Amino acid sequence: RTSRINTDDLIEWFAAEARDLPWRGPEVDGWGVLVSETMLQQTPVARVMPIWREWMERWPKPSDLAATSQAEVLRAWGKLGYPRRAMRLHEAASAIASEHDDIVPSDVDTLLALPGVGTYTARAVAAFAYGKRAPVVDTNVRRVVARAVHGEGDAGNPSPNRDLADVDALLPSDDSMAARLSAALMELGQTVCTVKSPGCEICPIVADCAWQHAGRPAYAGPPKKV
Ligand code: ADE
Repeated sequence: RTSRINTDDLIEWFAAEARDLPWRGPEVDGWGVLVSETMLQQTPVARVMPIWREWMERWPKPSDLAATSQAEVLRAWGKLGYPRRAMRLHEAASAIASEHDDIVPSDVDTLLALPGVGTYTARAVAAFAYGKRAPVVDTNVRRVVARAVHGEGDAGNPSPNRDLADVDALLPSDDSMAARLSAALMELGQTVCTVKSPGCEICPIVADCAWQHAGRPAYAGPPKKV
């Protein structure tokens, strides 16, 4: 059976316990979030932090990056891996500079029309930079939902429509609360409800967690590396 989780508890926990990551500051704009979310998609937080700071100092606006050569951009991407992301970001920066007055758009559909911006990034920017109600679904969020809502040990294969509907159903109707819940779900999955050692004893929603109520049934373990 499924559980209804207490989203207020989760939002409160996030306000108190969220890591102080550089792209979460109040001064960070849509550009800072677009860059961080692009970097964070395939690279861990600790490795992203110094490179993100360097990029923001060097290229505080999309037009600053757009004016830079591809070779230089790739060099600055350095060891983050998957360098295609840097090239896409460079293209997106050009489009933002030339078509959007150098301001990263705030609505999901306009974001999706940018080069290289997919559903995850578009929703993450709308939610985290602009406080909009947009379901942000990554692997961490999927695991939290699988456990807390469905009582399953792990998320199984992605099923984009169902995953989206599951997260959407959890989001409060208010934009700003929904955005905070999106960030909180991701943070919980990264720091507490982890693949290998779920911290149920410190989890803010353990009282409502379907997985906990089901006795934490054995699960298949971490997804197999392909
Ligand atoms: N992974 C993806 N987006 C993130 C964010 N905003 N903070 C921390 N980790 C993330």
